[in-house]
Amino acid sequence: MTHHEPSVLLRPMVEADLPYLAEPAGEFDDFGLPPRTQVHLTSFESDGGLTVEVGGECAGSVSWHWTSWGPGPLSRTVMIGIGLRESYRGRGIGTLAQQLLVDAVFRGTSVNRVEAHTDIENHAEQRALEKVGFTQEGVVRGGQWRAGAYRDGYLYSILRAEWALRQAATLAGWSP
Ligand SMILES: CC(C)(COP(=O)(O)OP(=O)(O)OC[C@H]1O[C@@H](n2cnc3c(N)ncnc32)[C@H](O)[C@@H]1OP(=O)(O)O)[C@@H](O)C(=O)NCCC(=O)NCCS
Repeated sequence: MTHHEPSVLLRPMVEADLPYLAEPAGEFDDFGLPPRTQVHLTSFESDGGLTVEVGGECAGSVSWHWTSWGPGPLSRTVMIGIGLRESYRGRGIGTLAQQLLVDAVFRGTSVNRVEAHTDIENHAEQRALEKVGFTQEGVVRGGQWRAGAYRDGYLYSILRAEWALRQAATLAGWSP
C-alpha cells in the first residue's frame, strides 16, 4: 500500500451525524435511517452503532447486533455491519473501522466469535473482511431482504483466538 493510512475513529453517534448518515444509499446499504436509539449508545450490552469519524468528519457508521447459536450466554455472538458515505470508500477506511470494531467487541464482551454477513456481489466488503482476518464460512441463501428482493450472502467469522494471534503478530512486526 502506497497511500497514507487514514486516521479512523469510532465514536458515539450524535444528532449532527444524522444528515450525513441519511445520505442517499448505494447498492448494498439501503436499509433506511439508523434507529434513534443508537444515538449516544456506548456499550456492547445491546445492539447499537458508532459513527466512523475521519479527519473530524462523519464518514459513515458501524453497527452490531447480538445473535445466538444455542441456549445459554456462551453461544451468543455479535454480528457487525458497516456503511461508509460514498466519498469515503476505497481508501482503506472500511478495513480500519472494522478492525477497530472487532477489537472493541472482543475487549468489551466475552464472545468467542464475531460475525459478518455480506451480499455475494459485494466484493469490496468481502475483501475488507478478509483483510481484517475474517474467514468465509458459507452461503446464507435468501436471508437478507434488500431493495425489493431476498438476497444470498456470505457468512464470515473471526474467532477470539484468531484475533489474538493477529494482534500478537502485528506487535511482533509480522503481517499475517
Ligand atoms: C464495503 C465498504 C465498507 C468497504 O470499505 P472501503 O473503505 O470502501 O474498503 P477499503 O478501502 O478498506 O478496501 C478493502 C479492499 O476492498 C477492495 N475494494 C474496494 N472497493 C472495491 C470494489 N468496488 N470491488 C472490489 N474490491 C474493492 C480494495 O481494493 C481493498 O482491497 P486491497 O487492499 O486488496 O486492494 C464500503 O465500500 C461501503 O461502505 N460500501 C457501501 C456499503 C456497504 O456495502 N456496506 C457493507 C454491507 S455488508
